[in-house]
Amino acid sequence: MDEPNSSILTIEKIPVTGSSISGYVAIATINRPNKLNALNAEVMESLKALCAWVESNAEIRCLVITGAEPLPAEEGKRAKPNAFVAGADISEFVGMDSEATRVKFTDNAVEKIWSMAKPTIAMIDGFALGGGCEIACSCDIRIASERSKFGTPEINLGLIPGYGATQRLAKLVGYGKALEMIMTGEMITADEARGIGLVNHVCGHENLREFTMNIAGKIASKSGYTLTTAKRVVKAALNSTLDEGIAIEAEEFAKLFDSHDQEEGVRAFMERDKPKWLDR
Ligand code: COA
Repeated sequence: MDEPNSSILTIEKIPVTGSSISGYVAIATINRPNKLNALNAEVMESLKALCAWVESNAEIRCLVITGAEPLPAEEGKRAKPNAFVAGADISEFVGMDSEATRVKFTDNAVEKIWSMAKPTIAMIDGFALGGGCEIACSCDIRIASERSKFGTPEINLGLIPGYGATQRLAKLVGYGKALEMIMTGEMITADEARGIGLVNHVCGHENLREFTMNIAGKIASKSGYTLTTAKRVVKAALNSTLDEGIAIEAEEFAKLFDSHDQEEGVRAFMERDKPKWLDR
């Protein structure tokens, strides 16, 4: 499958270092800075292609999704603010009816990100609003700069979130905080987002990439087989009772003892060696 690199979604491949793994962390940058990286149909199609490419490409160990930085200000105009993604492209809502909305929002790119087996990280510098907050919630880990702002302002358009925030945001931050964000439409700061569990880490914007790549690199250096098991089992908790989840964990834990990488990990520990993962 061809790399879905385009002017609207640029992909960088950063080699994994310090591990037996020869592979990459892919950084995908949504590139519409003059529209605060708002999600138009073209971006959503590109994100779907990105997910399919990452899942099918054994060299890609971890996906980082981010937004493009603002361009230099045009003469006589103020600079655009920094944004991860300022939401769905509102101009595409004009004249839409329920039928068109069902088509547009069913099986959308945010669900594709959520369904990925490989690890995903949202690297956020600036506004993460509406669909931007929802892309962040559909990734496994969220890392934000100190100047980021989060919100679900759809209420101000007479809407509710449509890319999963009523569910995934509520699972992350709890029913009360999610409803406060959704019903007021107010933004919260990066520090507040960390306080309610919406983001994992907040750091200075000048360190954001290094901080994120440090975590992505650590994850990318592990066994891909074990990582996908870990992700699948933790996510199972969202749809299971505690007893069901514990039973799922017990079975998946046991199955790992038939894998090459479990045997290799234990061998490497016993022999004070570095494990050579084979992703199986
Ligand atoms: N959809 C389409 N265009 C958007 C957008 C969106 N969600 N968010 C921002 N833009 C565009 C603006 O229309 C503007 O375009 P223009 O320069 O061609 O007029 C450009 O991005 C810059 O935004 P602007 O509003 O001028 O920046 P600001 O600093 O004054 O305000 C925000 C920043 C984020 C507060 C404001 O852009 C905003 O409220 N955006 C919408 C957020 C939203 O409701 N998202 C949920 C959508 S369901």
